[in-house]
Amino acid sequence: MKQHVLVLGGTGKTGKRIVERLNNLGHMVRVGSRSANPSFDWNKPANWPEVLSGIERMYITYQPDLAVPGAKEAIAALTKVAQDQGVKKLVLLSGKGEVEAEHCEQIVLNSGIDTTIIRASWFNQNFSESHFLEPIQHGVVALPNAGSKAPYVDANDLADAAVEVLLNDGHEGKIYELTGPRLLDFETIVNEIAQATGRDLKYIPISLEEYVGAMKSMGLPSDVVWLIEYLFTEVLDNPDNQIITRDVEELLGRQPIDFSDYVAETAKTGIWNQVVA
Ligand SMILES: NC(=O)c1ccc[n+]([C@@H]2O[C@H](COP(=O)([O-])OP(=O)(O)OC[C@H]3O[C@@H](n4cnc5c(N)ncnc54)[C@H](OP(=O)(O)O)[C@@H]3O)[C@@H](O)[C@H]2O)c1
Repeated sequence: MKQHVLVLGGTGKTGKRIVERLNNLGHMVRVGSRSANPSFDWNKPANWPEVLSGIERMYITYQPDLAVPGAKEAIAALTKVAQDQGVKKLVLLSGKGEVEAEHCEQIVLNSGIDTTIIRASWFNQNFSESHFLEPIQHGVVALPNAGSKAPYVDANDLADAAVEVLLNDGHEGKIYELTGPRLLDFETIVNEIAQATGRDLKYIPISLEEYVGAMKSMGLPSDVVWLIEYLFTEVLDNPDNQIITRDVEELLGRQPIDFSDYVAETAKTGIWNQVVA
């Protein structure tokens, strides 16, 4: 049966892939983002009932992160609107190892609406569609936590998993922890991208203090600096987040995408060869 699905963050790394998959399956998809019409803005709840009107299933990504102050209140308010509008199924994208995000998960799980949580590791696509792209284009990637490893997960696996749990029964009340198949540190990542692109890329290990100092001197807002510092300490440095799970395989019946396959596909687009001075 065709469903009316709202995809919040529907132009972002996971959302745009979910929108594409749902459209291909013939569902009626509404994108929820500030640039959509009607516009959805986490900071402007007044028109949320209009955006959710007629929606049966909803994928939720919160911006910028479920760990930030105010996220719990916003998630609770959205959940209430979803109840009022008769939404039947919720899927929340959460972050692995974020205690604050787990509070938000509980709000959605306890809403009375069928809910599934997908709790993700850091995404591969952070290196091609987000904050780690520019340093790669620049040729020098200076990041802290040189010794930390993470099981980066591919946004395509997240999208496939989200579509599975959005559309099919049997996932209600469940929390899936989605990781990639391999633990990677920054040096390995930069070397893999260098090899695939033929570029001379350098990884420079720096301290967290140097990284935070650099962000401040670039004029980044204090809440953004706080979030990045949080993600590098509480999340990337957390040994629990280095556990590789089998949840992608359980959900999709296939192995998760390996970082090398992501690198090979992304290198073909040429994005990493757009050199920034
Ligand atoms: N990146 C990671 O490694 C990672 C790992 C685990 C969990 N997560 C979680 O993933 C979520 C981000 O999802 P994503 O990476 O798929 O998205 P994304 O690529 O960061 O894209 C952001 C999306 O949200 C929309 N957006 C931005 N600000 C908004 C606002 N104020 N109100 C409404 N919409 C807004 C954007 O569209 P407009 O600009 O048109 O509004 C866009 O569609 C966060 O909650 C993060 O904690 C990320």
